[in-house]
Amino acid sequence: MFDVRPCADQDEYSRAIGAIGQYFNPPPSNELLVLFSRTLPHERMHAAFEDGRIVGGAGAFPFELSVPGGSLPCGGITGVGVHPTHRRRGVLRSMMDTQLRDVHERGEPIAALWASEETIYGRFGYGIAAWAGELAVPHEWDAFARPFEPDGMTRFVTAEEAGELFPPIYDAVRRARPGMTSRNEIWWADRQLRLPEDEADAPKRFVVFEAGGEPLGYAIYRTHSSWEGGSSTSRLVVREALGATPQATAGIWRFLLDVDWMGSVEVPLAPPDHPLFLLLASPRRMRYRMGDSLWVRLVDVPAALSGRAYGEGGPLVLEVRDAMCEWNDGRWKLVGGECVRTDEEPDLVLDVAALGSAYLGAVSFTQLREAQTVEELREGAVARADALFAWRPLPWCLEIF
Ligand SMILES: CC(C)(COP(=O)(O)OP(=O)(O)OC[C@H]1O[C@@H](n2cnc3c(N)ncnc32)[C@H](O)[C@@H]1OP(=O)(O)O)[C@@H](O)C(=O)NCCC(=O)NCCS
Repeated sequence: MFDVRPCADQDEYSRAIGAIGQYFNPPPSNELLVLFSRTLPHERMHAAFEDGRIVGGAGAFPFELSVPGGSLPCGGITGVGVHPTHRRRGVLRSMMDTQLRDVHERGEPIAALWASEETIYGRFGYGIAAWAGELAVPHEWDAFARPFEPDGMTRFVTAEEAGELFPPIYDAVRRARPGMTSRNEIWWADRQLRLPEDEADAPKRFVVFEAGGEPLGYAIYRTHSSWEGGSSTSRLVVREALGATPQATAGIWRFLLDVDWMGSVEVPLAPPDHPLFLLLASPRRMRYRMGDSLWVRLVDVPAALSGRAYGEGGPLVLEVRDAMCEWNDGRWKLVGGECVRTDEEPDLVLDVAALGSAYLGAVSFTQLREAQTVEELREGAVARADALFAWRPLPWCLEIF
């Protein structure tokens, strides 16, 4: 095991993030690293040392994640990297072990991440908990299925105005949707609204949709210009577009689809229940390709399971296997929305990673059984678990962190 501890100062912090920086071009500038420390404090960035030299780093943003019917403190795992000179010698394993214990001690019942490769994190108890994919709407196929007249107006706003107007809309959507991260003022400023100079050729544009003078929808997007044979093939890439009501959602999308010169409108991280699937007359033309998005790790099984809401169904006894966070290992009874230790006979046996997959409602126990990652010991238990854990809307994490 390598010596792993939180970074003591900006120098250690920069060198710890420098580990993942080995894989990026260009590596992050000092200015960017200082900015990063505003959302990821030094003490949440762990460094792995060998003979006093930093050879790896792993961070955890302190935010909340929306879960079915609520919101829970969550370690948002980020910046995980090991020097290519030290790969496959157990540095990552040492960092994951220390980091999960730290997340646990801080009282964050869940951890979540975006995986650079799907093969890395299952062994540490993370399971695929949300799906997303890219949508590309060709201009000639962007008509709505039903006649539509927006009940409001869209206007451009500055980054400062966006900082006032967008967060309440995001928070309204987040109250109903699992998988969304909480954002404080600094997060909005640094990660959503900042206009980096090196992106000046395709600057972020901010628009708000208002009905009756009330801001109800917003979009952040960029346009990338191109021409072929004298015709525009430009792309409008949506970073975020949300509406607090169905009318505002349709209104903001109609605006984006109607921007002139665009050959297509692209949405990089759309969930399978994205509103465009039924708003558009020809959703097939979007060529949706779905993959994993957010991975969830239950760090404290009883706190995580007691912290979400459930559908109808009687008690369920789960035997959870967790070799890494041994405090989770064993039998848990879910009754009346509360999760308590039990020695009753289990209905289902599963690894903590499979439970992480089911947690936000995107993956059913029926699917887990097909994948042979849950064992049904009492007939009908899979169906009962599905009735309890299913949730709509599906989880949607709007940004890669
Ligand atoms: C991925 C990365 C962090 C792994 O670090 P590492 O120190 O080599 O990993 P470890 O030696 O601790 O390996 C732990 C286990 O994970 C496995 N593993 C590590 N990287 C893996 C990968 N990319 N694919 C599949 N398995 C992997 C190891 O084989 C080992 O398995 P075992 O426990 O069954 O023996 C490192 O290779 C890296 O920095 N990659 C580039 C950046 C990156 O992808 N970071 C992740 C960002 S989300």
